[in-house]
Amino acid sequence: MDVKDLFKKIEDYENKDVVLEGWVRNNRNQSNFGFIDFNDGTYFQNLQLVYDKELSDFDKISKIRVGSAIRVNGTIIKSVGSGQSHEMKVKSVEVLGDCPEDYPIQPKRHTREFLRELAYLRPRTNLFNAVFRVRSVAAQAIHEYFQSNNYVYFHSPIITGADCEGSGQMFKITTLDMNNLPLGKDKKVDFKKDLFGKQTYITGSGQLHGETFALAYKKIYTFGPTMRTENSNTKTHANEFWMIEPEIAFCDMNGIMDIEEEMLKFIIKYVMERCPLEIDFFDKFVEKGLKDKLNKVLNSKFVRITHKEAITLLKEAKVDFEFKPEYGEDIAKEHEKYITEHFNGPVFITDWPKDIKAFYMKLNDDNETVAAVDLEVPGSGELIGGSQREDDYDKLINRMKEMNIPLENLDWYTNLRRFGGCYHAGFGLGFERLIMYLTGVENIRDVIPYPRTPNNCDY
Ligand code: 4AD
Ligand code: MG
Repeated sequence: MDVKDLFKKIEDYENKDVVLEGWVRNNRNQSNFGFIDFNDGTYFQNLQLVYDKELSDFDKISKIRVGSAIRVNGTIIKSVGSGQSHEMKVKSVEVLGDCPEDYPIQPKRHTREFLRELAYLRPRTNLFNAVFRVRSVAAQAIHEYFQSNNYVYFHSPIITGADCEGSGQMFKITTLDMNNLPLGKDKKVDFKKDLFGKQTYITGSGQLHGETFALAYKKIYTFGPTMRTENSNTKTHANEFWMIEPEIAFCDMNGIMDIEEEMLKFIIKYVMERCPLEIDFFDKFVEKGLKDKLNKVLNSKFVRITHKEAITLLKEAKVDFEFKPEYGEDIAKEHEKYITEHFNGPVFITDWPKDIKAFYMKLNDDNETVAAVDLEVPGSGELIGGSQREDDYDKLINRMKEMNIPLENLDWYTNLRRFGGCYHAGFGLGFERLIMYLTGVENIRDVIPYPRTPNNCDY
C-alpha cells in the first residue's frame, strides 16, 4: 500500500498489520531499540518505524543505511513519543536495495547548489520532494480550471516554421549533416534539402496556432514545453520552460485580466488545499510568511496600472535605479521589484509602448501603445504576459511590414482576420515562475526537474 493512503485514515489501521515498500531517510538506534524514518514518496511526512531487541535480526536492521530501499511488515500503533500521532512497530524488514556509506543525500541540510549538481537524487530530499509535488498538483489545477470553464486543451506543434515572438529566439532544427552542409548558388545553406524542405525551428510559443483554434472553439489553452535561445543567466530564465497559453475569442484586454486573476486564485487555493504539509514546510524553511502572502492574494483585488503610470511611479521613487525608468521603454528587473513591493502583491501593467512589444498586439487609439498586459508578482517578476490581438487585417499587415515579419509564411495567421475574424485575446503563464511564486523558491533551476540554462545541460 501507499503511505499516503495509510496516513489518510491512520486511525482505521490502528493495531493492524501492513506491508510497505519505500526508502530509509534516517536510521538511529541505541542498544535496545531503534527508529527508521521511512518514506515511500507518496506522502511528504515520514512514517516512524520502531524496532527493538526482541526482533531476531535487530542487529541487521540497525545497520541498514540511509537511502536503502526496504520492505517492512509491522503493526500500526498510537505513538507514545511526540512528533507523530502514529508509528509502526516493526515485525520484519527486508532490504530490497542496499545503499553505500558514502551516499551523498544524508539526513542533514544540503545547499541547493550542491543538490542542483545531483539533480537525479534531489527529489529524495524534503525540499525538492515538496517542490515537485506542488508542480504536479499545480499542473492539475490548471487543467481543472480551464476544463471546468469550457476551454479546449489544444496541442500546439513543437516543430514550426513560424516565429511567434518575432525575436529570433528559437532553436533551429535540422537533419542536415553539419559537417557537410548542402549549399545553394548563393553559398547559403540549401534548406530545400532538409527534412521538411525548408528551415524549421522548435517553437517559442504556441500562441499563433492557438489563435486558429480559439477562432473555432472560442476558448482554448495550451500547456507544454517551450524552448528559447536567450542567453540570460538569471534566476527567472531557462532555455526550456513550460508555458500555459490560453486564447479566448470575444474577449478584450480587460477580459484577460479578469481571467488571469480568477485563474491564479483558483490555482493557489487548489494547491494550498491539496499540499498543506508542503506549503507549511515552505512557509517555515523557504519563505517566511508565504502562507500569509498567498492568503492575502486570495482575498485581494489585483492592482491595475498603465505602463505610463508605472513609469511615473518609478520616476517619483526615491531609489537610485541602475537603469533609469523612461516613458516608452521597457521595465527592468529592479523596476518590477520596486513596483510589486510598492503594492505588496500582484500588479497588472497595461498599455505598453508598441515598439517594445510583439507584432500581433492590438494597437490602441493613441497609435503609440498596444493593448498588452503583464502581470508582475513579488519574487518571480513577470509571471504572465498577454494581450488583445490585432484583429484589423490592414493594421496587422502594416505592423508586420514595419517590423519585417515575413508575410508569406503567416498567411494562415493573417487570414484569421478575414474569415470570420473577431476581437480576441490571450496570455502566456510561465509555469516555473508560478511554482517559484507558490513555493517561495527563488531560483528557476530549483523548480524544474532538469534545468537547461546557458552552459548547463547536464543529465
Ligand atoms: O511574455 P512571453 O514571451 O509571451 C509569449 O510568449 C506570448 N506568446 C504569450 C501569449 O500571449 N500567448 O512569455 C510568457 C511568459 C512570461 O510572462 C514568463 O512567465 C514566461 O512565459 N517566460 C519564461 N519563463 C522561464 N524562462 C524563460 N526564458 C521565459 N520566457 C518567458
Ligand atoms: Mg513577456
